[in-house]
Amino acid sequence: MSRPTSVDGPRTLVEVVHIHKSFPHAGGELPVLKDVNLVLRQGEVCAVVGASGAGKSTLLHCLGTLDLPTRGEIRYEGRNVVELTPPELAEFRNRTIGFVFQFHHLLPEFDALENVMMPALIARVPPRQARERAAAMLERVGLAHRLTHRPGELSGGEQQRVAIARALVMSPKLLLADEPTGNLDTKTSREVHDLLFELNAETGMAMLLVTHNMELARLAPRCIRMADGRLVEDEGPAGGEGLA
Ligand SMILES: Nc1ncnc2c1ncn2[C@@H]1O[C@H](COP(=O)(O)OP(=O)(O)OP(=O)(O)O)[C@@H](O)[C@H]1O
Ligand SMILES: [Mg+2]
Repeated sequence: MSRPTSVDGPRTLVEVVHIHKSFPHAGGELPVLKDVNLVLRQGEVCAVVGASGAGKSTLLHCLGTLDLPTRGEIRYEGRNVVELTPPELAEFRNRTIGFVFQFHHLLPEFDALENVMMPALIARVPPRQARERAAAMLERVGLAHRLTHRPGELSGGEQQRVAIARALVMSPKLLLADEPTGNLDTKTSREVHDLLFELNAETGMAMLLVTHNMELARLAPRCIRMADGRLVEDEGPAGGEGLA
């Protein structure tokens, strides 16, 4: 699938507009995101770096609608998703966003194929079609020979490939990854990084990659740095837009 382009280049996928996020803490409010603005275009790959506690995961959770900002808007293709009801949000997330975390969060009682089918079944894709899609995704990530293995019977790199297959089974427009290779050795990390970039090129999905791994950050055409709840650097083709 080729990337959607227009005369102005790829279209905006998501716009983060003046978001703030605070957590109630010790009888007060702890501000964690402080007026973050960000534009991600369709198919764009952007790394997010910054010291521990800078707010990277909080931003990823807000972008992924797993948590909502205290103030501000998150517009996907123009629609402010902050206003959606919880069931609407769940459906939107299931169809639009894939997640990969440092720890795979696969369901231990289910095998690789069943884990990857899960988002499709939740989206009410007929079981046979869900199974076919899941098998094709697992084949794509190099695990056609491990369909009936449970997570505990897979290596760390294989578990993360299953998690990537699960994240992609609904063909999301955006993949959000939080330390996707934080738990893997150098060689396996490189293989997973290569896989993510291949999948970006093949599917045209955008990727936001939160990482402490500078090798991964350098692979991304655009890199955002966070410090103390703010975006402080934005380098790459679309860089600068988030720092208005
Ligand atoms: N639910 C919460 N309640 C209170 N404070 C929180 C909560 N979640 C996060 N924080 C605080 O918000 C700040 C940012 O956390 P966040 O997890 O976004 O950091 P991070 O940049 O992802 O760090 P790391 O690189 O260590 O993963 C931290 O200081 C953290 O303690
Ligand atoms: Mg984090």
